[in-house]
Amino acid sequence: MNNIYLIGFMGSGKSTFGKKLAAALQFHFIDLDKKIEKQTGKTILEIFDESSEDIFRKIESKVLNNLNTKNSVIACGGGTPCFFQNMDTIKKDGISVYLKMPVKTIKDRLNRSHKKRPLLQNLSKDRLDIEIPQMLDYRSYYYHQADIIIDSLHIQAKQLAAYLSENYSR
Ligand code: S3P
Repeated sequence: MNNIYLIGFMGSGKSTFGKKLAAALQFHFIDLDKKIEKQTGKTILEIFDESSEDIFRKIESKVLNNLNTKNSVIACGGGTPCFFQNMDTIKKDGISVYLKMPVKTIKDRLNRSHKKRPLLQNLSKDRLDIEIPQMLDYRSYYYHQADIIIDSLHIQAKQLAAYLSENYSR
């Protein structure tokens, strides 16, 4: 089976789900943000603070395009498929899965999350209520290009693993 790319909005559980999926398939697990941090020696927050989102996107795209991996589940960042030709890269290299979640659930989960997210962390609650749905709306165009779209509240990693093994194994 090809690599599997998990895409979806911030807070939709790509890393948690990805680890479970990788375990079920006996694949490697790669967290793209972690890979960027390792390769640059900086946290995502530091890259945004010290440089800019533009620079972050260039690094992100470069790391994505140079992954050079096999038998891996890759948890992308929420913005990964939405910049440059990244979605084409993802689609050429593997099977893309959009972890779809209702916007209300995303908001609740982001509220509870401890991960620092540079695009959201300085926004007030009122602002987040406006920005998150807008951003999701814009990004949905890219997310919906995924090969598989799952309702991630109701599908378990094991179920997806079984589906993938049945339909995408060669
Ligand atoms: C981003 C999502 C983050 C991280 C960066 C930008 C985004 O990853 O890549 O802060 O643009 O949606 P998560 O989706 O894992 O939070």
